[in-house]
Amino acid sequence: MNILIGQSGGPTAAINASLLGVYLEGRKHKEITHIYGAYNGIEGFIKRNLVLLDGKFDEPQQADLLRQTPSTVLGSCRYKLPPVKREESIYRQIFEILSEYEIGAFFYIGGNDSMDTIDKLSAYGSLIDSPVRFIGVPKTIDNDLMFTDHTPGFGSAAKYVNATVREIIRDSSVYALNSITIIEIMGRNAGWLTASLSLLHKNGEDAPHLIYLPEKPFSVSAFLRDVRAELEKHKTVIIAVSEGIKLDFEDHTDDLRHQVLDEFGHVGQLAGAGKALERVLRREIGCKVRAIELNVMQRCSSHVASLTDIREAETVGREAVVSALSGLTGKMISIRRLSDRPYAVAYEAIELHGVAGLEKKFPAEWINDEGNGVLDAAHDYFEPLIQGELPVKWENGLPMQYVL
Ligand code: F6P
Repeated sequence: MNILIGQSGGPTAAINASLLGVYLEGRKHKEITHIYGAYNGIEGFIKRNLVLLDGKFDEPQQADLLRQTPSTVLGSCRYKLPPVKREESIYRQIFEILSEYEIGAFFYIGGNDSMDTIDKLSAYGSLIDSPVRFIGVPKTIDNDLMFTDHTPGFGSAAKYVNATVREIIRDSSVYALNSITIIEIMGRNAGWLTASLSLLHKNGEDAPHLIYLPEKPFSVSAFLRDVRAELEKHKTVIIAVSEGIKLDFEDHTDDLRHQVLDEFGHVGQLAGAGKALERVLRREIGCKVRAIELNVMQRCSSHVASLTDIREAETVGREAVVSALSGLTGKMISIRRLSDRPYAVAYEAIELHGVAGLEKKFPAEWINDEGNGVLDAAHDYFEPLIQGELPVKWENGLPMQYVL
């Protein structure tokens, strides 16, 4: 049989390592003749936008280069398959192309929507008695997939945000004047990545002094109280805020409510929360305020990738192939943590149904009572995930990257 790999959803520093894992494991098995990649995930596949990957990453130098290349070499998509009942023709078309290319197993590397795709395709496959196996390979910097201890891509993003915020702390504290720096972190409706910044406390930093996550309703008047209290204690106040914070207007005066609504545009928007809070602070407190959006840098900074993350990403790819060859379908490879110290994990093929459509939130028991900080109890969870550095190859002063 031939196999097919697709990448989908937001990029990460580790998603190409998963592709490499599928590829290298696939090349080991005689029953696999060709390895295809789909450009732009399932969306590109429907348009027959395929590439033959045979031989592309066999040499160790090629594999190393792919491992250290962020984002998705095959491109990506944000495409959600419609329900079979509504548009069965798309499913028929997909299975026609699968059989045309003699695909026996499809590996889809992605987050929530990608697991939904795999779930729907495997369900349709069983409906029509198709022999094609469908396996989900998890990835997302948001770390919000259910039934896995963490997702590949998260550890590298956490390492990047911690390293970068530490640099921001040094930069922000140079002047002898009061200042506030707000750092906005990605993660959609889950606060994992923002919360990982509590690791800086374990590493001798006071900052971030305040951490706000989407898991707790965000009150601007409480925020102003918090910031004023921190300014009493520190010349420079560093605040980490998740892009997905949900505004809570319960305890606001009408005046503040209007101001905040103006700043945020609409309640619960993704991205821009930091800038909106910057304007509120400037008006209400008046000292030097700067908002920094780490934006896409936090998901594609391979030069500071976590070796643990890259290795695990590759292993989930390999495990996916092993599972498919053992006859499994409709599964996702999940990482189960066996111990924090020494850090140890096991890989399992779990039922996909139930993963898609749910979001794993940052645990309430690791958030302080005030809803403006993360407890030290979370450190054991985060710390192993950012360990180790990928030995990156550089050329002309820049990290080398693979372009397909
Ligand atoms: O889901 C991963 C993620 O990076 C989120 O953290 C972020 O909100 C989103 O993707 C951004 O998506 P896009 O790249 O499609 O704008």
